[in-house]
Amino acid sequence: MLTYEQALNNFSEKFHASKAKTLTGRDLIPGGFSRRTFNYGPHAVFVERGDGQYVKTIEGHRLLDLNNNFSTNIVGHNHPDIVNAITDMMDKGFSFGNPTDHELELANLLSDRIESVEQVKFFCSASEACLGAIRIARAYTGKTKIAKFEGGYHGFADDLAVSAHPNPSNFPGPDKKPRSLPDSDGIPSYKVDNIVTLVQNDFEACEKILRSHSQDTACVIMELQSGAGGVVSLDKTFVAKIRELTHELGMVLIVDETMSLRASTGGLQKLYEVKPDLTVMGKMIGGGLPIGAIGGSREVFSVVEANQVMVSGTHHGHPMACAAGIACLNVMDEAAFDKINGMAERIKTELNSWAEANNIPFIVYGSFSILGYALTREAGQNITTHRDYWHKIDEKKMSIYALEMATRGYYPVHRGQIGLMLPMTSEDITGYIETTKDIVSAIYHC
Ligand SMILES: Cc1ncc(COP(=O)(O)O)c(C=O)c1O
Repeated sequence: MLTYEQALNNFSEKFHASKAKTLTGRDLIPGGFSRRTFNYGPHAVFVERGDGQYVKTIEGHRLLDLNNNFSTNIVGHNHPDIVNAITDMMDKGFSFGNPTDHELELANLLSDRIESVEQVKFFCSASEACLGAIRIARAYTGKTKIAKFEGGYHGFADDLAVSAHPNPSNFPGPDKKPRSLPDSDGIPSYKVDNIVTLVQNDFEACEKILRSHSQDTACVIMELQSGAGGVVSLDKTFVAKIRELTHELGMVLIVDETMSLRASTGGLQKLYEVKPDLTVMGKMIGGGLPIGAIGGSREVFSVVEANQVMVSGTHHGHPMACAAGIACLNVMDEAAFDKINGMAERIKTELNSWAEANNIPFIVYGSFSILGYALTREAGQNITTHRDYWHKIDEKKMSIYALEMATRGYYPVHRGQIGLMLPMTSEDITGYIETTKDIVSAIYHC
């Protein structure tokens, strides 16, 4: 049986230099590094470089990068087309007080691919784009409150960092009427009071909540498959009903595709056949460079065109990020999406049939090339809401799995997510599947 203490020891021994760097880094940066999400068990794993589907750690170990910067690097590290695009731009200058063609070209690519996107506005991160989207929604509707889902993540800003990953032990209210909870100290209560919190995959509950707030709610912002708050896929008919209801109640529907845009050329909304008013994008559309964007209908964007809404920043539409994004999207054609989604299907099918056949409390779930995995308390579980996630997972076992996977050369997102990259091979996938079976068996000593 593999215990937490053993897994932790194996991990800290293998990544000893990273452990030391985390500790010394704390003198300079609170926590040792800028992103809280880097924490992997007791410390981060520092990398020296990336190549294709792998990263090389500062200890010299090669890891299959199932994190890929939390889903950003879909085409792999250092893809030659992206390297060329950036190098070409570097020759011309880094940033200007003038627009460049790159911004228009990336906007054109996105509006060609995504049916609901007629116009696009760029930012430096998806957190910023989410803020822009709710400001536009408020200006367009003249209403103030924002409805979001418990378990939905839309960046770290005060206005939206509410109930993204609340632990049930924090008393988040009844299952059908969640209480909005701040995700951080320092978020004023008036921000939290502005959030109407909804329940994933429970239309009856959502309808009741939204109707009771219809007079003052500007928009519903949602992920079709949540990620950072814990992976949960929404049901297609549930999403269709929310679309219908938001139309009826005069609320703007914002679909946050920061991660899920990697589902197809037209994003996950294409597979769900849903047409939001605004779409938030980020991660892969910058090819690995910082970016965020809002796409949407001319009708809703009219408040921006008329200059009623100010959404603007020094680096918005940065030419380098736009050039990298264009190169990335051009690599991601239909065949590339088929390949990467096919690898995800294989992982799901093989690991779930293995777990089912052996009555092992382990599942892989979700759609497209971002999957959730869970070591659960009982076998044969489904995860359909954020609370389901908390109630059903065995947190300690999840940690053992992630630590040991990293020790053995596979680097998932430790909260229970893996993302695939285009250059991954069938040998990589076989290695991932077999290593998972080995570790999960050792954890449950079966
Ligand atoms: C769905 C979603 N929205 C917004 C964000 C925030 O993006 P950024 O980190 O670029 O600000 C993220 C980041 O993980 C995300 O997954």
